[in-house]
Amino acid sequence: MTSDADRRAIFLEEMGLAPLWVPLAAPLAAVAPVADQLAVPPAAAAQDMPATSGKPALPVMAVDLPGVARASETVGLSGNIGADAAAITAPGATAPSAAEIERMDWTQLKAAVAGCVKCGLCRSRTRTVFGVGDEKARWLFVGEGPGRNEDLQGEPFVGPAGKLLDNMLLAMGLRRGENAYIANIVKCRPIGEDGRDRPPAPDEAAACMPYLQRQIALINPTIIVALGKTAAMSLLGLEKDTALAKLRGTVHNYSGLPLVVTYHPAYLLRKLTDKGKTWTDLCLAMKAYADA
Ligand code: URA
Repeated sequence: MTSDADRRAIFLEEMGLAPLWVPLAAPLAAVAPVADQLAVPPAAAAQDMPATSGKPALPVMAVDLPGVARASETVGLSGNIGADAAAITAPGATAPSAAEIERMDWTQLKAAVAGCVKCGLCRSRTRTVFGVGDEKARWLFVGEGPGRNEDLQGEPFVGPAGKLLDNMLLAMGLRRGENAYIANIVKCRPIGEDGRDRPPAPDEAAACMPYLQRQIALINPTIIVALGKTAAMSLLGLEKDTALAKLRGTVHNYSGLPLVVTYHPAYLLRKLTDKGKTWTDLCLAMKAYADA
């Protein structure tokens, strides 16, 4: 039986502190009851960091996990239908209403997203990024929106932040194609005036929300993990800017489902010392899952 200390060590190692790729053998139900004992004080987490850890250990993140195939190798791209740029300009490109989206099945929903022109993000996208994973997953992870890599590949979280997310899943005994689904608040890449990735604007998030709501209804997960403030605020319908610190540590309610908020993996790549707090959040999520 893996001890709490072992499990925490595995998590921190898998979060990028050393290349230890050991999947958790313990079932989630066995992990959850100890969740509240696993809080890692930031100072303790910091002690575990390499002395030179001012920057994320990107070379570690960039290593493929043996035995953990990317979802595209195992389950295919869950929804990307292809050349969206053509779809935008194609005659018949549509913007279905929320009521229409609510009645869609997976095939219709994927097609609607691929051809969506509901907001300005459609003009600059290369591909829509529908979501990926097990369409019957108990665990749903929701990020912010596609970045450059995701826009090119049509799959969420494929860059360094995605490697870290895969490691987070692995530490929880999950993989993106197995019992986990990964989606975003928006399906098209938001690009800032400087050409860099940016968070979606509230109107862009609102335009895209019916697609995510339908995905959630079709998946019918047991629990949702919001990755970062944008995801948390959009899913919880918060209009007033709220610090992530205020949203963590509580099991929120999304339409009757437990929702736990944690840091966005891209933020964690910049702020190594918050990785320990993320494990605390994931333990809270595993406890909420076990209780659900
Ligand atoms: N960041 C996100 O929030 N989502 C992605 O798919 C990639 C990076």
